[in-house]
Amino acid sequence: MRRHQSVWAASVELPQFTPLEQNVHVDVCVVGAGIAGLTTAYLLARSGKRVAVLDDGPVAGGMTQMTTGHLTNQLDDRYFELEKIHGVEAARLAADSHTAAIDRIETIVRQERIDCDFTRLDGYLFLAEGDERATLERELDAAHRAGLRGVQLLERAPFTSFDSGACLRFPNQGQFHPLKYLAALAQAIHHEGGHIFTGSHADEIEGGVPALVHAGRHVVTADAVVVATNVPVNDRVAIHTKQAPYMTYVIGARIPDGAVPKVLSWDTGDPYHYIRLQKDVLIIGGEDHKTGQANDSPQRYERLEAWARARFPMMGEVEFAWGGQVMETQDYLAFIGRNPLDHDNVFVVTGDSGMGLTHGTIAGMLLTDLILGRPNPWEKLYDPSRVRLRAASEFARENSNVAMQYADWLTGGDVASAEQIPAGGGAIVRRGLEKIAVYRDPEGAVHECHAKCPHLGCVVQWNSAETTWDCPCHGSRFDPYGKVINGPANRDLSPAERSREQRAA
Ligand SMILES: Cc1cc2nc3c(=O)[nH]c(=O)nc-3n(C[C@H](O)[C@H](O)[C@H](O)COP(=O)(O)OP(=O)(O)OC[C@H]3O[C@@H](n4cnc5c(N)ncnc54)[C@H](O)[C@@H]3O)c2cc1C
Ligand code: FES
Repeated sequence: MRRHQSVWAASVELPQFTPLEQNVHVDVCVVGAGIAGLTTAYLLARSGKRVAVLDDGPVAGGMTQMTTGHLTNQLDDRYFELEKIHGVEAARLAADSHTAAIDRIETIVRQERIDCDFTRLDGYLFLAEGDERATLERELDAAHRAGLRGVQLLERAPFTSFDSGACLRFPNQGQFHPLKYLAALAQAIHHEGGHIFTGSHADEIEGGVPALVHAGRHVVTADAVVVATNVPVNDRVAIHTKQAPYMTYVIGARIPDGAVPKVLSWDTGDPYHYIRLQKDVLIIGGEDHKTGQANDSPQRYERLEAWARARFPMMGEVEFAWGGQVMETQDYLAFIGRNPLDHDNVFVVTGDSGMGLTHGTIAGMLLTDLILGRPNPWEKLYDPSRVRLRAASEFARENSNVAMQYADWLTGGDVASAEQIPAGGGAIVRRGLEKIAVYRDPEGAVHECHAKCPHLGCVVQWNSAETTWDCPCHGSRFDPYGKVINGPANRDLSPAERSREQRAA
């Protein structure tokens, strides 16, 4: 039977921690217990810093549980594109940093004796339908210039069930079980004397001396604060105009032993498909779209399955289906470093660009160096304040797309009234000047919130496969009852007043 859960979440017990119940003072407060936050906290704790990690969910309950766990220095956005914006030297630094991130994960796995299925394996980039060999040739040359001399152009990837055609082989990549890794990292932080508080929402984050993180009735004071909430919840505008949110979808199905080679793989499509194995489960992802701007997620899972079956006919029933969000920056690299327009002791990490496991690990290494006052060769490359003029057209395209979303306030609702919404469904209903996000739960009860996103006021949209309200502007997401699950919004949707007829009913 199909479950709407990642293969990782279905196969691990995460360690439990308690909420913040008193004021605490530490050297560094990290907000967010995903791969970026936990790696940063772990490396700081190992360097002798007193750390506290706050998360409003459990550990690893954010986008890290939705990942597919490819650990790669193959760049999703292509080295030849990166070079155009940042130049050859920067592309080399980017390649070095992703390679170093995989190495660092391997070192941590060894040091902490983490049983998380970490494996070194090759990655294959093959042509999407309609793409040309020249794409691979350009990427091969750019990868070599970036220092990845082992990358090779081959006539086909090692799949036997379909002929991929020409491909690039990236040697010595990695894969792991991300939640087993984070479960162990959380334990290691605890053993190093660090604090982890779950169920603790950071309501407000202030830099200065000391930095303050307010969570409910309590405060963490610290010399520095790292905001690792996937999308910064402490920055209203500066970073959000430089990155755009995309939903991406994944399926997992059993395959017979040995039927598919153990490799990582991607095609060159836009959006692209990504493939790997976890034991006997074949994992395939793709079908990305701008968050909140497509209401056909069930059909996207169907198209993904059709694409997968055409290439892997030995696949069993789809057992796992899940979706999540990636943040695409205008210049293809994450933002890691000091928060723009803020105190010097506030740091952020965001803009995963589909490579958030390596970017999150790079963040751990880079932020540790910045906080300890050590030089780091990647500081300028990932500086969140950077502006690359060569990325201006991407910046203009994404921001005019955001501006267009405000026109939603002028349109009608998805349906005329809540009666038209089936059990388990959601839709926007216009009520006078207001737009209401209406969810009918599986028992038939109706739950209503204002559809205005608390970040900068766009109208949220229903995502039927994920049962979330998604904001089409900067990627805030809310559960069906309006509880915030993804920034930049840091508050829930506000509850709607029930109409007179509803109160009378
Ligand atoms: C389907 C999919 C496939 C992917 N595949 C890959 C891949 O193969 N390789 C790769 O490198 N990357 C991949 N990515 C990207 C990568 O998985 C993510 O970018 C990365 O895991 C994000 O980690 P994070 O620590 O930044 O965020 P998260 O894991 O989201 O952690 C952020 C945490 O912050 C907490 N939080 C948020 N706001 C607050 C608040 N106000 N107070 C307290 N806590 C808060 C959340 O609860 C959450 O636990 C994929 C992403 C998706 C969705
Ligand atoms: S995320 Fe910015 S307006 Fe909703």
